[in-house]
Amino acid sequence: MARLLEIVEKDAVGDRMPTKSFRLKHDLASHPLFSLDRLAKLAGDLPEGQVEWNGPVSPNQDPNLTPANGMSAEETVRRIEEAKSWMVLKSVEADPEYKALLDACLDEIAEQTGGVMGGAMRRSAFIFVTSPGNVTPMHTDPELNFLIQIRGNKRMSLWDQKDREVVSAENMEMYPGKHRNLPYKDENEARALHQHLEPGDSIFVPLMAPHWVKNGNEVSVSFSVTWMTPEAENFVSLQYVNAVLRKLGLPQAEPGEHKLWDSVKVAAYRVLRPAYDAIKKLVGDRDKAVALVFGRKNIEPV
Ligand SMILES: [Fe+2]
Repeated sequence: MARLLEIVEKDAVGDRMPTKSFRLKHDLASHPLFSLDRLAKLAGDLPEGQVEWNGPVSPNQDPNLTPANGMSAEETVRRIEEAKSWMVLKSVEADPEYKALLDACLDEIAEQTGGVMGGAMRRSAFIFVTSPGNVTPMHTDPELNFLIQIRGNKRMSLWDQKDREVVSAENMEMYPGKHRNLPYKDENEARALHQHLEPGDSIFVPLMAPHWVKNGNEVSVSFSVTWMTPEAENFVSLQYVNAVLRKLGLPQAEPGEHKLWDSVKVAAYRVLRPAYDAIKKLVGDRDKAVALVFGRKNIEPV
């Protein structure tokens, strides 16, 4: 394979923000940046806030009851075979070697799609390291994403972003401090798209498409390369604004139903977000800023 990352289902790329998952192939399965030794070093090098890990969880995990595994980040990677754990290394482009690989992958995608996908806006990469049989609970992600399976296998159950029987409009909305886990109902599994991933496989995960992941019987390592487009940023901004308005007792129509009103809300977000960020910086703590701006009693537990 001449390329690091290659789109298999070429007809699936119609616009900058496809709403359906499609498949790719990659040539990264034996890349040295994904050896457990190198990943343990990365886990130790990254700032504390960029590494998250926990013990065994379920698809419908209550975030308040997420178990710790009692190990350091580095130790978790080294002992991942028996750790019964899930770990994510966030924004790994902080390390120049991973940044170079992220850019190489997305530059190739941009080349294959005539610049339609993989754009240069807010590129970021994540690495998931998980024990055999572990689960990533139901959630959505606020970015466009290629999930690249490096080691082990997994199955992702994916639903349409617009399917309100799977995730309610309220649960699709986002606000600072909201935990990403979403309620999961087993009965919806029958209409999920099941993407099976083995080393060499990759899939596109559409913006904010609800999904959960079940790992196979081996250690799994996945590389997630993400980016944004202006359309994607507007969509995510609307989910923030709609959450705030709902908390003020003004539940809103779905993004796209009232385009003019949507654009007013996005403009308001652009004005207000820097003010919120300034307050956060001033008080030095996200939870305190959330309490100050939104009122503590209105905020779900983090
Ligand atoms: Fe995800």
